[in-house]
Amino acid sequence: MRDNPLVLHVLGARPNFVKAAPVVKGLAELGIRQGIIHTGQHYDALMSDVFFADLGLPEPVANLGVGSGTHARQTAALLTGLEDVVLEHRPALVVVYGDVNSTLAAILVCAKLHVPTAHVEAGLRSFDREMPEEVNRVVTDALSDLLFATSPEALSHLSNEGVDPAKVHLVGNPMIDSLFAALPKLDPAPVQERLGIEGRYAVATLHRPANVDDPQAARELVDAVLGVAEQVPVVVPLHPRGRQRLAEAGLVDRPHLKIVDPLGYVDFLSLVRGAALVVTDSGGVQEETTMLGVPCLTVRPNTERPITVTHGTNRLVTPASLPAAASKALADGATTPSGELPPLWDGAAGPRIARVIEAWLRGDSLSPAAQSRVSSR
Ligand code: UD1
Ligand code: UDP
Repeated sequence: MRDNPLVLHVLGARPNFVKAAPVVKGLAELGIRQGIIHTGQHYDALMSDVFFADLGLPEPVANLGVGSGTHARQTAALLTGLEDVVLEHRPALVVVYGDVNSTLAAILVCAKLHVPTAHVEAGLRSFDREMPEEVNRVVTDALSDLLFATSPEALSHLSNEGVDPAKVHLVGNPMIDSLFAALPKLDPAPVQERLGIEGRYAVATLHRPANVDDPQAARELVDAVLGVAEQVPVVVPLHPRGRQRLAEAGLVDRPHLKIVDPLGYVDFLSLVRGAALVVTDSGGVQEETTMLGVPCLTVRPNTERPITVTHGTNRLVTPASLPAAASKALADGATTPSGELPPLWDGAAGPRIARVIEAWLRGDSLSPAAQSRVSSR
């Protein structure tokens, strides 16, 4: 092992921060030298700073400030910024998270510089290449040296794509670790009071390009959300991406519909914990509602997280079917087909990942038996 090897985490967007916090904590507990590179893909205080505070993440060692742009422009800025920073810090391993453009760029830079990489949340597939995230997932997994899977179906997806199974570790879900850690702080009452919500309510989050970029799709979605608001008051902490298009389509404050800025992590999950229903197109929110046992209607034709349907409270809907599905969910409450949570969603994914990384840094290649010991701890 190199003397005192450095692990760098590349983070850029809201869900990255949530997934990284337990890994950073796990590595810190093992005394491994590490640092965060913030790419600046998300930069508003409510999309970034609030997560560092709520999740107890250390200050980044660098912020590249890449900001927003088309896919090509944003990715180009990420590539040049990350190349400089990786050359400067010479990490032994770079850890990337999820499926955002910052993840893709970090993997490409490291592959060309021959710097080893680990991907947390490997192997998720929607099989929908029109999603920019799906492209990022496929490329990232093809180039990663260590792949950390959050749910079992990821293993077959990776094997079907020719990824060497020896690189893959089923470790559970670090986003669920963060949720476990936050649970004692999740109190709906203060957030409800601040937002002026009384009684039963639903929470909606919408930001997928397929839903919010096209005016016609946005109008259909807003009409559907208004159909839900006829049944129960709906609060929408609105992602900046959809704000203008959805407002033009009619998603504005009105009786039973409250549009607010994105919420901090603890405030948002507090609100979700107290909700009768969640309507979303987020990836992570499908998992968090499964864990919290809150009914979730996902307005998408597919999900890369089918385990939240088979083992959780999640159902896929179209805009046309949303109002009726909401009525049923409000009447039935949370129901889960399997009656049990996904395997290893137990709050210990971060320490599992940290142990695999520690062994990898030592140069130990884990045998399948050792891997299963790591997974079951
Ligand atoms: C990105 C990810 C998506 C993830 C989402 C999490 C990609 C391709 N997409 O989508 O997978 O689900 O983050 O939230 O990486 N904006 C602001 N302030 C910010 C950040 C963004 O106003 O702090 C606005 C800008 O107008 C920007 C737009 O949001 O153009 C989109 O931001 P971007 O990071 O490109 O993609 P997201 O839609 O956030
Ligand atoms: N989230 C939040 N505030 C909000 C909306 C979402 O803290 O107003 C959290 C949510 O709990 C989850 C993460 O942001 O942990 C999910 O991010 P997002 O939906 O933006 O991205 P995706 O998961 O779709 O990639």
